[in-house]
Amino acid sequence: MVKLTGLKKIKTAVFISGTGSNLKNLIKFSKIKNSPISIDLIFSNTSKAKGLRFSNQFNIKKYVSNFKSAKIAETKILNLLNKENIKFICLAGFMRILSKSFINEFNGKIVNIHPSLLPKYKGLNTHIKAIQNKDKVAGCTIHFVTAKLDSGKIILQKKIKILKKDTPTSLAKKVLRQEHKLYPLAIKKIFN
Ligand code: GAR
Repeated sequence: MVKLTGLKKIKTAVFISGTGSNLKNLIKFSKIKNSPISIDLIFSNTSKAKGLRFSNQFNIKKYVSNFKSAKIAETKILNLLNKENIKFICLAGFMRILSKSFINEFNGKIVNIHPSLLPKYKGLNTHIKAIQNKDKVAGCTIHFVTAKLDSGKIILQKKIKILKKDTPTSLAKKVLRQEHKLYPLAIKKIFN
């Protein structure tokens, strides 16, 4: 794993597809003195991602490329990541699957946040599944990204109680609040 050398923060890109609340949270964390990372690039596979607005707000470069051809998009991103000297990637609500060859280029340097207690509920609709199955606990996971979907080594997890009154929407909100606490902790754990 990359280690923090001297006082320089590790140049990091955040990949998003939507609202970007985890992105905003990571940007705020990156500005804290003892944060190991700086956020230097925001990538989205869609120009509709609301989170792209944080590019202007925090003066961070952004780049959009749709994944109609994943191969072309990934080649463009890789060129940009190398040009910007990016050493670490945080997936934060990024809803596309990266290819094995892309992941190999950044081996051990891509992490993802997933809204379930992996290995339970890989993929989509995690909160609906948890409620339909009458689970008592839900949660979120930060893990390293490998070529196998939502299956890389787990860095940190947080459990959240599911109440009888919870709906997929209320559960998603509760889990998201915990995601915002967990992502910075996981990054500190990786680099410290
Ligand atoms: C988060 O709940 C994140 O865990 C989830 O998307 C949401 C993004 O919210 N990610 C996945 O489902 C990845 N498979 P945000 O855009 O507000 O950070």
